[in-house]
Amino acid sequence: MVLETVSVASRKQGAVLVRFFKKGEPFPGELLPGEFKGEANSAAFFSTPEGRSLAIGLGDGIQIEADTYRQAAGTAVRVLQQAGVTRMIVDLRGAEKWAREIAVGILMGGYYFDTFLPDDRKLKSRVQQVQLLVAKPKMPAVAELVHAGQIIGEAVNFTRSLGDLPGNYIYPEALAETALSLGVEFPALKVKVLEEQTLQKGGFGGMTAVGGGSAHPPRLIEVLYQGGRKGEAPLALVGKAITFDSGGISIKPGDRMDEMKYDKMGGCAVLGIMRAIAALKLKINVVGLIPAAENMLDSQAYRPGDIVTTYDGKTIEVLNTDAEGRVVLADALAYARIVHRPHRIVDFATLTGAVIVALGTYKAGLFTSGSELEYLFRKAGDATGEKVWPLPYDEPYRTQIRSDVACVKNTGGREGGACTAAAFLSQWVGELPWVHLDIAGTAWTTRDLPYLAKGASGFGVRLLLETLLS
Ligand code: BES
Ligand code: MN
Ligand code: ZN
Repeated sequence: MVLETVSVASRKQGAVLVRFFKKGEPFPGELLPGEFKGEANSAAFFSTPEGRSLAIGLGDGIQIEADTYRQAAGTAVRVLQQAGVTRMIVDLRGAEKWAREIAVGILMGGYYFDTFLPDDRKLKSRVQQVQLLVAKPKMPAVAELVHAGQIIGEAVNFTRSLGDLPGNYIYPEALAETALSLGVEFPALKVKVLEEQTLQKGGFGGMTAVGGGSAHPPRLIEVLYQGGRKGEAPLALVGKAITFDSGGISIKPGDRMDEMKYDKMGGCAVLGIMRAIAALKLKINVVGLIPAAENMLDSQAYRPGDIVTTYDGKTIEVLNTDAEGRVVLADALAYARIVHRPHRIVDFATLTGAVIVALGTYKAGLFTSGSELEYLFRKAGDATGEKVWPLPYDEPYRTQIRSDVACVKNTGGREGGACTAAAFLSQWVGELPWVHLDIAGTAWTTRDLPYLAKGASGFGVRLLLETLLS
């Protein structure tokens, strides 16, 4: 999709003109269809002397915010793609302030996973050319916002398109290949892949245990970006990428097990974030670390009762092979801390069903060691609509996962499951400032939303980028 800002004089003919309307807002000189009242995300075609137009409702306007415009823009693209339209012009006049989020909404609204559908069920068209109409003097600043929005939207869609691919397409080696191609497309990203032998020799006992039962061996993907001063400590982003989670020997019930293809979304989010950071040329140092493994069951699989030794020498008693995310993350967090010496770590993981019990699918669980980080992420969550809510992981939760035979056990039972999982991870982070996001409830959606079709949401990409940009 190509987005460009244009002034009225240079707008192209033949594209559908999209205009936003508050509820009841009059529209001088032109006739709107009678049934259109400006309700949020309602849409109606109408004709003007300049050609075909599409009216999109913003709702009552009492609280017009970023999400109002993201939704409206997403709705416009979806309506046009259903109607077979490929070129649109969006009237930005009066909404220039929201240019970035409108661009994000356009990009995200345009994504639809139809790769494997028969032709008659694929999207009728893809909107390919988008012009954003602005009043001339404001153009350069607005063009910059649109450019940033395009990069962010593309990064989110990159994460979603990886996420929607199932386990027979995306397994650890395939995810590593995708990361390597990202490094070719963005030379500022230096991608390194640690293969199974290296992991075995290097002491990544968590990753090799979890990946042991699969025909597809595990990989640790490392993506380096140096946009800041040489030698300056990086920000470390760690993302759980279980390409499919069967539960292992502690196998999951069959119902909805297919959704566990999304158990890689933390890692996919980290890849999307790295892509955007490179495209935006941010002046910071960042390292992305993605422990990728498939949690399967066979004679090589790790078992309940096993004791595994992680990268930093700490031991884990495995009580449930379905609590595998924390086991691979232990290795990746230790590796991040010891090898990369970051100034802080942020991790993304579809870690627990318990966080869905706690927060539903509306907000991700936020676990952090510092109140400033909590404030930063909550603010970014409100701005992007990728909302987070703080949860604890302090002393009693740590005690709950004490093991009699190893440093820690990998489950503390059902009670406070999201919190004991975070308490587990914290032991591999040490004293570093840290944010853990449990995105189990938010990484994909089973309902179509205005700018989020069913499937992977890319949750975390916009959230983290917002903390860097704001
Ligand atoms: N990937 C799951 C968590 C999950 C569940 C994500 C539902 C998204 C939707 C994770 O590996 C898991 O199985 N966690 C267990 C932990 C338990 C065995 C301590 C869980 O939440 O049930
Ligand atoms: Mn699991
Ligand atoms: Zn899992």
